[in-house]
Amino acid sequence: MRKTFAVLIVLFTLAGCRRNVREGTDWPAYGGNKAGNRYSTLAQINLRNVSQLKVAWMYDARDGGQAGKQPREIECQPIVVHGILYGTTPELKLFALDAATGRQLWLFNPSAKQQGYNSMNRGVDYWEDGDDRRILYPAGPNLYAVDAMTGQPVTGFGNNGKVDLHTGLENDRYGIKDLAITATSPGVIYKDILVMGSTVSEMGDALPGHIRAFDVRTGKLLWIFHTIPQPGDAGYDTWPRDAYKKIGAANCWAGLVLDDKRGVVYFGTGAPAVDFYGGTRTGMNLFADCIIALDVTTGHLKWYYQLTHHDLWDNDIPCPPNLVTVMHNGKKTDAVVQTTKDGLIYVLDRDSGAALFPVEERPVPTTSLPGEHPWPTQRFPLKPAPLTRQFISNADLPDSVLFPDSYRWARQQYSELQHGQKFMPPSLQGTLYIGISGGAEWGGSAVDTGGVLYQNVSEMPWKVRMVDLATSLRETTSRGNALYVTNCSVCHGVDRKGGGFPNLLHVDERLSAADISGILQNGRGRMPPFQSLPEWDRNSIIQFLLNKEGKAERNGMEGKDEHSDKGMLDAGNTGFPYVPPYMRGSGGKFRDSSGYPGLRPPWGTLNAVDLNSGDYVWRAPLGEYPALKKKGIPATGTENSGGPLATAGGLVFIAGTEDEKLRAFDSHTGKVVWEYQLPYGAFATPITYSVDGRQYIAIAAGGVRNNHKPGGYYIAFALPKTDL
Ligand code: HEC
Repeated sequence: MRKTFAVLIVLFTLAGCRRNVREGTDWPAYGGNKAGNRYSTLAQINLRNVSQLKVAWMYDARDGGQAGKQPREIECQPIVVHGILYGTTPELKLFALDAATGRQLWLFNPSAKQQGYNSMNRGVDYWEDGDDRRILYPAGPNLYAVDAMTGQPVTGFGNNGKVDLHTGLENDRYGIKDLAITATSPGVIYKDILVMGSTVSEMGDALPGHIRAFDVRTGKLLWIFHTIPQPGDAGYDTWPRDAYKKIGAANCWAGLVLDDKRGVVYFGTGAPAVDFYGGTRTGMNLFADCIIALDVTTGHLKWYYQLTHHDLWDNDIPCPPNLVTVMHNGKKTDAVVQTTKDGLIYVLDRDSGAALFPVEERPVPTTSLPGEHPWPTQRFPLKPAPLTRQFISNADLPDSVLFPDSYRWARQQYSELQHGQKFMPPSLQGTLYIGISGGAEWGGSAVDTGGVLYQNVSEMPWKVRMVDLATSLRETTSRGNALYVTNCSVCHGVDRKGGGFPNLLHVDERLSAADISGILQNGRGRMPPFQSLPEWDRNSIIQFLLNKEGKAERNGMEGKDEHSDKGMLDAGNTGFPYVPPYMRGSGGKFRDSSGYPGLRPPWGTLNAVDLNSGDYVWRAPLGEYPALKKKGIPATGTENSGGPLATAGGLVFIAGTEDEKLRAFDSHTGKVVWEYQLPYGAFATPITYSVDGRQYIAIAAGGVRNNHKPGGYYIAFALPKTDL
């Protein structure tokens, strides 16, 4: 007992010495601190004066206007350390700015190519030991270490400043090299240990989503935790034998949090591959869709808690957990809070992983596609109440007076599609879901010191209609078409209409063969690269997408018959290791002809939930549509992405809405107390920090998502100097 105590004191002091980062004035980590609280004690900007906020500076993060050609959104929540702001550009170059003025100090290009990387980045990590100060961040298929003062690569780290994110994974799985991997969210650092998740394919070519720890000083791989268990690992028997050799994903793409005192890292994992069909992965599928606690020095499992068994709904855990302390049964209790895409809030004991509020395991529908074995029960937390509807019923039809056209269209659709229950397995008939794109999403939650959780959610229904692959392939007209169906349709739809993903039907009007080839080579945003497909196959797909498939090629391929041949289903023929017999065919986001979600509002809300009692403090619509407002329709809220920031000034800042505004809510009442029309949509999470006694609020306003105009800016707000 005594000994442990002494060790603890030593550890504490060491940690204490290391930390000259100014807690309170800086924003030193993704999520504000390693606990992921998205909360600041700064209160210079407060309820009384927030209406005086003005733009302090704007930084154009588009590198030489490059964003013009293939604009991409920015999801990065920057960090601020020692008065320097670090963030990433739409091309994933890393920059350092004077956080008071927005003046650029340096710019680092991770890629050999001028245009940087196409993948997504949500943030970066900072580490220091004396004068050795480093930024660590993932871009493309690598993890980079950059000198925080000079912007030069740290040559002693990995291979001249970078580590290949394939390290320790089965990179030549199926005999295919360079399967897609990146990390869209940063890792978390404990002493000299950086723990990383990853973003991998969600299809039959997925790498496993194992969690890895790297040495911050050298880049050496320290440990690996198998999210898809191997023989001898716990959870191995929740899959068919040897599943780990063929099945991938169950990755943590949303980021991790750390309890410095316990030396424990907490995170959530995603669905196993492939989304929407699990016929080859019979079982509960641990550790997919789990909240997991690992010893940060060894990677050993402390506990897990599975939120969705045998996931058939792409129900990835979409954000890092939030580490909080609540009063529970009259006792101060350290907890882990996790919000989900299906609009739930789980509050678990940080040491045992036990739920603090009652959670019921209930029978769910099991009628499904041939070969599928849905898990017969799922979890239903009873408290706090869900943040969103849990399923769509006829009571959700749009209002027949306010939205008559939408009502008629939706009524017809509802009558054709399965709905009315949660956890209905995907079907050929088509099913209406709530949750696939949130609920809560990657922006995560904020929690203040009183234990109140702030969480934005969307209520965008999805229509998922499965198709059977044999039939779809029989209907294809060319090898390019068949390769498209097997490789691309899971996101872009067999009909190429996208729905939640870009519509590729008239892509020839926007993009050249070279453009598409670049996208397939490097990936783009949330789309993985398809480098692993042979170039010949990639070209066939491009020809198909550009409607340029000449007769010659078709003849050369023996026309249509070739593809109705069962041989097309073989891995050898498709270039794909595993093609499921059923995949998402058409559907996607379920919107009416004006683009509004096909159900009655709210379509987006911000919520405040007291985690001590589990009760709601308030709930407010988040965002509005000017056209509907003009008609006198009460605020509906809009689909939103990017998370909240809570401050001791009694404010919750959040952007992310379709109306491109940054808002401040009164954290006690949910009333909007300030709003600002941004020049570009901000689909990222704001931060706050203070330099020389002046508090700033900063956010990336990159535009682009859902066809918003491209921006590429970081914008900081502060009170006019005279008000300080
Ligand atoms: C995991 C889902 C996913 C898969 C699989 C996928 N894509 Fe994409 N694709 C996306 C997303 C998301 C975007 C938007 C990326 C961005 O701009 O941020 C996109 C964008 C594109 C674009 C650019 C569209 C435009 O209008 O600018 C093309 C072209 C494209 N994808 C082709 C393909 C092809 C061909 C395949 C199959 C080889 C494929 N995609 C597979 C998700 C996917």
